[in-house]
Amino acid sequence: MSLTKRDFLKMSAAGLAVLPQALSAQTTLVTLRASVTDLQLLPEQYEKTTVWGFEGHAPGPEIRIAQGARVTRRIVNDLPAPTSVHWHGIRIENAMDGVAGLTQDAIPPGESFEYDFVAPDAGTYWYHSHNRSFEQVARGLHGALIVEEPDALDIDHEEVLILDDWLIDPETAQIPDTFGAMHDLSHAGRLGNYITTNGRYNLSRDVARHDRLRLRLINAANARVFQLGLDGLDGWIVALDGMPLGQPQPIDGTFLLAPAQRIDLIVDVVAEVGGAGHIVQFDRDESFSQVAFEVRSDGTRARRAAPLALPPNPVPVPNLAEARDIALRMEGGAMGGMRGAMMGGRMSSMRDMMQAGQFWAFNGSVGGMDGSPLASLSRGETVRIKITNDTSFPHAMHLHGMHFHEIAADGSLGALRDTTLLQRGEVRDIAFVADNPGKWLLHCHMLSHAASGMMTWVDVA
Ligand code: C2O
Ligand code: CU
Repeated sequence: MSLTKRDFLKMSAAGLAVLPQALSAQTTLVTLRASVTDLQLLPEQYEKTTVWGFEGHAPGPEIRIAQGARVTRRIVNDLPAPTSVHWHGIRIENAMDGVAGLTQDAIPPGESFEYDFVAPDAGTYWYHSHNRSFEQVARGLHGALIVEEPDALDIDHEEVLILDDWLIDPETAQIPDTFGAMHDLSHAGRLGNYITTNGRYNLSRDVARHDRLRLRLINAANARVFQLGLDGLDGWIVALDGMPLGQPQPIDGTFLLAPAQRIDLIVDVVAEVGGAGHIVQFDRDESFSQVAFEVRSDGTRARRAAPLALPPNPVPVPNLAEARDIALRMEGGAMGGMRGAMMGGRMSSMRDMMQAGQFWAFNGSVGGMDGSPLASLSRGETVRIKITNDTSFPHAMHLHGMHFHEIAADGSLGALRDTTLLQRGEVRDIAFVADNPGKWLLHCHMLSHAASGMMTWVDVA
């Protein structure tokens, strides 16, 4: 249970004992300072890398709260540029959504902004800059936001694993200031050359054989879709984008983690003592160990039975029979032809679009936060959006403020997500109850694409 400030005042007035923990949670506004900082990101023989981080770290400090509790953070902007913070995946109050240019003004350098919101759903979430995010997220402005279920799971350890894909010049150890490069905007996005987990290229953990771990995977990369697998670990997917699956899904082969997506796994360490379990990343024909779990001892426990499902979150269930249908056709980019975008769009020619750095379109228009929304929705109505990826690249479409169901091939409600990956040519229907009032972005989380036209919003009133 979380206490509001008013509850707390009432309780102290009545002379009721308040736990020190509850008290500090209510009275301390924790600072999250965004600043420029030097980190040893590359292996030790290289120079440090200048990144933008929170509290001197990239990723920033983990925020961990109980389901239903409040998060209060004062963002102090010590960066040389305006910024804002979005709490990705939280079904949040609109004013706290952190979208510079839509729900608030960017926080100027030297100033601060107070975020204060409740997290209604348990699960794995994250926070990141939402101003020039194609630059600021790539420079390191992100961190984990973990909302715990009321009851502890039967596990031995938990690890939050933030995967990132940095573009770093090995000569200088620095991040090249090539943000907004035309090739990144118009192709697959800003892909990096150096992959880290929690800021390390060789993350390893000591475990015992038969330990059961909960792994919370977060993809903080600008554009890379990670293809992952397990080795020496038996695992189940138990949640996607924070939301529990009805039934844990055993992992057999590889799975994809698109930018901004999260996957919660339960894994059992089955590697022998002296060996290691791995999260393996596949890149074309090669594979790399991304995280190693070194088996130091024979655990005391025998193997356990398959895990149970996590308790569901209180997300309203869409009624597909009454859904309002909306179409969203994604067009543009290199090798895709901008014809559709040019014909109906605000830009009069391909050349004007390119000069404006705009390469993508939704339903024939270059998107953005200005102009009119994709749809004005009445609060409580069920919406079904048919998204068609008519481009030559994959895109990870993210809706703010509300989770949606992917519609399965048989027409039923599939997994609840906040970010859905569409491969080239793919069509996906998503459905949700528009129960959260406000202006909510719907954009590609390949952040260079969002900056060059793949962005729209819905208005719920
Ligand atoms: Cu995680 Cu609009 O973003
Ligand atoms: Cu995209």
